[in-house]
Amino acid sequence: MLNEQKRQSILEVLETQISKKRYEHVLRVEKKAIELATAYNVDVEKCQYAALLHDYAKEWSMEQYQVILNKYALDMTMLDYGSEILHGPVAAMIANEQFHIKDKDILDAIFYHTIGHDVMSDVAKVLFVADYIEDGRTFHGVVEARVLARQSLDSAIVYKLQQTIMFLAQKKVSIFPDTIKAYNTWISKF
Ligand SMILES: [Fe+2]
Ligand SMILES: [Fe+2]
Repeated sequence: MLNEQKRQSILEVLETQISKKRYEHVLRVEKKAIELATAYNVDVEKCQYAALLHDYAKEWSMEQYQVILNKYALDMTMLDYGSEILHGPVAAMIANEQFHIKDKDILDAIFYHTIGHDVMSDVAKVLFVADYIEDGRTFHGVVEARVLARQSLDSAIVYKLQQTIMFLAQKKVSIFPDTIKAYNTWISKF
């Protein structure tokens, strides 16, 4: 478990960055991440760090994202896909820079939670699934996703990638190529 003092120091800063509604989502993701990490024998502390910081930059402006993208020479094509994609990679840079998190599993989990990735660490898997099925989620298919998450993290990941791509295609919006790449890799495993 994450030391309560460290946890509170993160929450104090987090509160200044996101709305009350999103802050509560983050707490529910943390709760679900602890559950999943315990069930699947994954490092609970790492999953808590990833959960607490994953949406840190979700409400930032495009100008703020651009500063971080430039500073760390990140893929500028992400700008075409908006906050939905950008807030993961940007939060990973902030976790490193501002919260001094150096652990690759935590940073990658945060980075890829918006995009998905062909190779995911156990921590990344836990965050990707916890973010999708936390107790406040009510979207069509969440019951199925929760059932799958009890069977295996991998099956829930494939489901999330598949549902996300279908949802975006139905909305007639473009899909970040790395998400399609992740989907292709994961679907071929099943
Ligand atoms: Fe997010
Ligand atoms: Fe989230």
